Amino acid sequence: MKTILITGSSSGFGLEMVHDFTELGYHVIASLRSAEERKAIFDSVNDKSKLTILNLDVSSKDDIRHAAEHINQAHNGELDVLINNAGYGLYGALEDVSEEQIRHQMEVNFFGAALLTQALLPALRKTKGKVINISSVMGRFSLPLGSVYSASKFALEGLSEGLYYELKPFGVQVCAVQPGAHRTGFVKAMIWGDKSQEESSPYINQTKGLLRNVEEMTNKPKATGSNNVSKIVVGLVRKKKMPRRVLAGKDAVATGIAQKFLPEALYHEILHRSYEKVFGSEV
Ligand SMILES: NC(=O)c1ccc[n+]([C@@H]2O[C@H](COP(=O)([O-])OP(=O)(O)OC[C@H]3O[C@@H](n4cnc5c(N)ncnc54)[C@H](OP(=O)(O)O)[C@@H]3O)[C@@H](O)[C@H]2O)c1
Repeated sequence: MKTILITGSSSGFGLEMVHDFTELGYHVIASLRSAEERKAIFDSVNDKSKLTILNLDVSSKDDIRHAAEHINQAHNGELDVLINNAGYGLYGALEDVSEEQIRHQMEVNFFGAALLTQALLPALRKTKGKVINISSVMGRFSLPLGSVYSASKFALEGLSEGLYYELKPFGVQVCAVQPGAHRTGFVKAMIWGDKSQEESSPYINQTKGLLRNVEEMTNKPKATGSNNVSKIVVGLVRKKKMPRRVLAGKDAVATGIAQKFLPEALYHEILHRSYEKVFGSEV
């Protein structure tokens, strides 16, 4: 039975993947913060014999060390698939976010994935396993008030691409999944810059524009559900050879096509116009 470790399993893509992979007969290590108090999240998993719940805050070096020890002790030092999914979005103009907020965004979205992968690579090399990083379409382009979130995902993209080649000789495959907008807990968990919503902020009108847009997106009944990404990841795990990166969701695929086929200046002009729609004439 193949063993999969998923980070950020408490909601959204992560929780959906826990359900899908246990149904398919994989042994799933569902990791999440404050695991002891939140075990009930997994009550609806049908086959609990295939489920291990592990406490893992990806920004904690102790938790990462503990996860590696768990793999050594309970799984003979072998892991088939690592899914770096934990993450959140910090939004706000650079002038409105604090240094602490920027560092924490990188700590979770980039360092968490990098250090956990580093700790688990000996176990992944043993099985010629797979690393799947849940990046974002925002790891391909950036937008006003989203520069730090994008930076964290661009960093994750750089890590994924380098590792794709670095680990090839060992038979370990690496893929970055780039979802567009999906209905998960992401919007609710968004963190805004400390000063973003102060009326005195020079960026207040842009912030209000983005807030309006986020609200509209949240209420959109047709937004793609989290099962879309889970199905794509299941497909990747079952594939003999994973691609370097995969777009997920119609909006992400459209962005990928535009980036590939349009001249750069035209592509950025279209991006700028779409930002004007969200932020008014502020950008
Ligand atoms: N939904 C989208 O539209 C979208 C688009 C592109 C990319 N993504 C990416 O997809 C991934 C999953 O997000 P989601 O959309 O499924 O949102 P979500 O429902 O909010 O899930 C995010 C998960 O990350 C966990 N997490 C946050 N900080 C953590 C930390 N320090 N240590 C461990 N876990 C942590 C959360 O756990 P807690 O419950 O403990 O907070 C939660 O389980 C993220 O990396 C996100 O950037 C999402």
